[in-house]
Amino acid sequence: MPKNALIKIDDKEISCPVMVGTEGEKAIDARNLRKDTGYIFYDQGYGNTGSCESAITFLDGDNGILRHRGYSIDQLAGQSEFVETAYLIIYGELPTMKQRKAFGDLLRQNAHVETQMQRLFDGYPKDTPPMVMLASLVASLAGYYPDLATNNFEKDLGQFDLSAAMAISKIRTLGAMIYRHTRGLPFLHPKDLPFCDNFLHLMFSEPYHDYVSIPEVTSALNLILLMHADHEQNCSSATVRMVGSSGVNLFTSLAAGIGALSGPLHGGANAAVMHMLQSIHDEHDDGTRFISAAKDGSKSHRLMGFGHAVYRNFDPRAKVIGEACGVVLKKLGKSDPLLDIAHNLEQAALKDDYFVSRKLYPNVDFYSGIIFRALGIPINMFTVMFALGRSPGWIANWREVASNPKGRIYRPRQIYVGPARRDYVPIAQRG
Ligand code: SDX
Repeated sequence: MPKNALIKIDDKEISCPVMVGTEGEKAIDARNLRKDTGYIFYDQGYGNTGSCESAITFLDGDNGILRHRGYSIDQLAGQSEFVETAYLIIYGELPTMKQRKAFGDLLRQNAHVETQMQRLFDGYPKDTPPMVMLASLVASLAGYYPDLATNNFEKDLGQFDLSAAMAISKIRTLGAMIYRHTRGLPFLHPKDLPFCDNFLHLMFSEPYHDYVSIPEVTSALNLILLMHADHEQNCSSATVRMVGSSGVNLFTSLAAGIGALSGPLHGGANAAVMHMLQSIHDEHDDGTRFISAAKDGSKSHRLMGFGHAVYRNFDPRAKVIGEACGVVLKKLGKSDPLLDIAHNLEQAALKDDYFVSRKLYPNVDFYSGIIFRALGIPINMFTVMFALGRSPGWIANWREVASNPKGRIYRPRQIYVGPARRDYVPIAQRG
């Protein structure tokens, strides 16, 4: 393994150290490149650029590997549950029984949303996009809990256990409140229930008729949230790190991540997949017509839920969620014609050279909507569910930024392509 990379520019040659990660990933440490050569690297979208060293998640896109703190997503999906995996991602180790209970207790103790904060909903029209409400509500947590959001890393880290549990728990409760607000339903109080059961209660209970937990539903919700818990330096997690690097508190950084996740190319894709499947179904297409339209390459006809910025192989999460779809629907005694269409699309695309040659495979969003729908969650809430699932990953990334004594504010450079220097022309002379 080379210890240095030699970069020769004109008649100059500089040596950059080579960094090697736990799994053998390699990077050229270019932190002195501009100082030593006046050059910068250009990498639109940062697809070939490492912005940080992180110990949270390892992702090998070529081989479809995803591990959280060393544990494979398949093992966690089969043996863990969302809150335990959230603890692992945030704190780096699987919790002991005592630690798991303490974390669960902290989540329950912080499940409620203050009455004063509930009044914020009065300002949102009922058809406000749920992710717009979630981003502003989460940002507001910094106003309601200023002692946890001082914008002083040392102080904020001193309260980290509470702010982390509060963030996950409040995002859960606020998500349910957003659902009820869009339907004109009264808000409910959290109960002394496990995390996912409390969410389902807050979503679906009636004032005089509590939601009755169905083990299969709770287990499916645990699985789907766990599968979203973290994913290396994806757009929203990188956004949380970028915003956090300015020294700002956890809640404000999470709100920025929520904004990034709401985009149709990122977290908005799960809803886009369901709209795509529904339109294929409504047009009595078995997917064949849609596939040929998707191959014209236009962004308006993308096969949503397919392709990935990193995976050039199957997204391991898509496999697990895809297998779970059938099991969940069967356990709930439900069927969904959109699942059959999804299977048709997957089979057709995996044999079609357009997708195979571009290494486009199903990603986490391709099947997740089928499960959300089976759980009774409406399409406009799918990305809120993604945000709830991803909250542990965002929190862990913020903590790495805040805890790094050598951390620096994110400040990428650019190549300027605007007008060259020119003199001001007074308006009277501009014609
Ligand atoms: C998530 O980063 C993460 O980890 C994200 C995520 C997470 O957990 O945080 O995994 C969650 O965001 C999953 C991705 C959800 N998005 C979608 O499903 C939207 C549909 N997919 C894409 O738009 C696209 O695949 C991206 C945005 C996901 C990735 O884009 P890239 O890697 O920048 O690929 P590209 O846009 O450069 O496309 C390369 C080629 C192009 O064709 P050519 O120009 O070579 O002819 O592939 C084509 C694209 O037109 N292409 C598609 C396609 N995705 C890419 N063609 C049809 N359908 C698609 N879905």
